[in-house]
Amino acid sequence: MAYELIEVRTEAGKVGVVQLNRPKQLNALNNQLMDELGAALKAFDADPAIGCMVVTGSEKAFAAGADIGAMASYGFAEVYGGDYITRNWETIRQVRKPVIAAVSGFALGGGCELAMMCDFIIAADNARFGQPEIKLGIIPGAGGTQRLPRAVGKSKAMDMALTARMMDATEAERAGLVSRVVPLDKLMDEALGAALTICELPQLAVMAAKESVNRSFETGLSDGVMFERRLFHALFATADQKEGMDAFVGKRKPQFRHR
Ligand code: HXC
Repeated sequence: MAYELIEVRTEAGKVGVVQLNRPKQLNALNNQLMDELGAALKAFDADPAIGCMVVTGSEKAFAAGADIGAMASYGFAEVYGGDYITRNWETIRQVRKPVIAAVSGFALGGGCELAMMCDFIIAADNARFGQPEIKLGIIPGAGGTQRLPRAVGKSKAMDMALTARMMDATEAERAGLVSRVVPLDKLMDEALGAALTICELPQLAVMAAKESVNRSFETGLSDGVMFERRLFHALFATADQKEGMDAFVGKRKPQFRHR
């Protein structure tokens, strides 16, 4: 499939990289771009050679939000009737292999929400996160009011959603929104390094770990722990569990076969 608004490539044959590519509009997210992003991630997810994905933007902007020009004239009938947002924004949540957001520059509005839909965020030191929708007379519409408080707590989430103030990379790491902060010129090395680490690990366990951590946001503690325990038990049926434990006991390097 040919993509116009994103660039797609693979690294070391194992990492699927998607780069948002509307630099002049600071990667403002329109329907076509979100369709392309969803299609690219689904294709990587279905490709047995791919073990992990990285979504990134440009130096200046991961994404400055939904495309305001495209939305400006919409009324309720268009956004509700046309299923704006949910039609193609949730695809990223259906992907079962890990997706890392490598964020430099602005991650605002839908851009911040897109980063938060990924499994974890690695940020460059120039990254800035925000939910400034309130200044446009709207509120976040792709999970910002739900995922941000889970990531940074109520007080900071309210502060950002109500005042539109941005959080820099240092604050974002301190608050738990991002997992690592690195110098801008090291961002892709760091993200690809993390992705390649994941690719080398047993894929069924990787998918189970992602599924189980995600379940913690959807369920109470005892149900979540039971869900985790069943996945933990199930992994003892995999060849890679035998290989990983035999290799440890035998003091040799494991050869995982992702089955
Ligand atoms: C469309 C955008 C855009 C956006 C920037 N541009 N953000 N176009 N939608 N979200 C365009 C500008 O119009 C401009 O185009 C070019 O990108 C460069 O932007 P500048 O404003 O000139 O750059 P700068 O002065 O550096 O300011 C950067 C900025 C600012 C602080 C990021 O652009 C900004 O505030 N953008 C809007 C951020 C925002 O409100 N996001 C939330 C959107 S609502 P021209 O043609 O003039 O060069 C949203 C809802 C999500 O995301 C709901 C779920 C989907």
